[in-house]
Amino acid sequence: MNILTFETNEELNKVGGNIIASLVQTNPYAVLGLATGSTPIGIYQELIRTYQNGHVSFKHVTSFNLDEYVGLPEGHPESYRTFMNNQLFNHIDIPLEQTYVPNGNAADLASEGARYDEMMSTSKQIDLQILGLGHNGHIGFNEPDEVLSSGTHLVQLKESTREANARFFNSIDEVPTQAITMGVGTILKAKMIMLVVRGRDKAAIVKRALQGPITTDCPASLLQTHSNVVVLLDKEAAGELA
Ligand code: F6R
Repeated sequence: MNILTFETNEELNKVGGNIIASLVQTNPYAVLGLATGSTPIGIYQELIRTYQNGHVSFKHVTSFNLDEYVGLPEGHPESYRTFMNNQLFNHIDIPLEQTYVPNGNAADLASEGARYDEMMSTSKQIDLQILGLGHNGHIGFNEPDEVLSSGTHLVQLKESTREANARFFNSIDEVPTQAITMGVGTILKAKMIMLVVRGRDKAAIVKRALQGPITTDCPASLLQTHSNVVVLLDKEAAGELA
């Protein structure tokens, strides 16, 4: 693992944006795996700036998002589709039909995961997967458990995850109880993974994920088995690393 620690969020965003933009400059047909949440926003803003300055085009890029809540109506401000449109897609030249997010309103939620995996396999391997990290070690919405699923699947969200995400809703009652997420197997198939973590409140889980035992109890620890992971940390998140 290549672990990089940054003094400021601006530096972290620049390097993160640069990794993605360089990949797309070298391979305009790149397939990106994208994350939502507060962590990648600064990196997406950096990408928008790079696009607006004429240094990169996303016209031929395909993207697959990690996850989506179940049951939020289309256009709901907190759905991950709306998030992606607002935070990135509407500001760059990627055609929306080349952007994929699991359908949290699929009639058959149990088979939506298989449909999504099928779409990914007909596209091609993800070149770069961007990940944030949950306080409990989740990646995507793969929550700590005795067993983890490999492919995209329906998941019950842990109360701690719903509580962490309640800040985006009016109250915790509005936070969905289920989501569809890429599995750990899907994530680990990406050619390169960029894990981004910010903040003192994540320092302990960063240590467990990067330097602790590899265990399903901390899904992010499985990233230690991947041969091409870059980790971008602000100095607070890196605070407990040996
Ligand atoms: C988002 C996702 C989640 C978040 C994680 C951290 O698509 O899959 O794993 O990356 O919950 O969220 P933030 O960035 O809001 O702290």
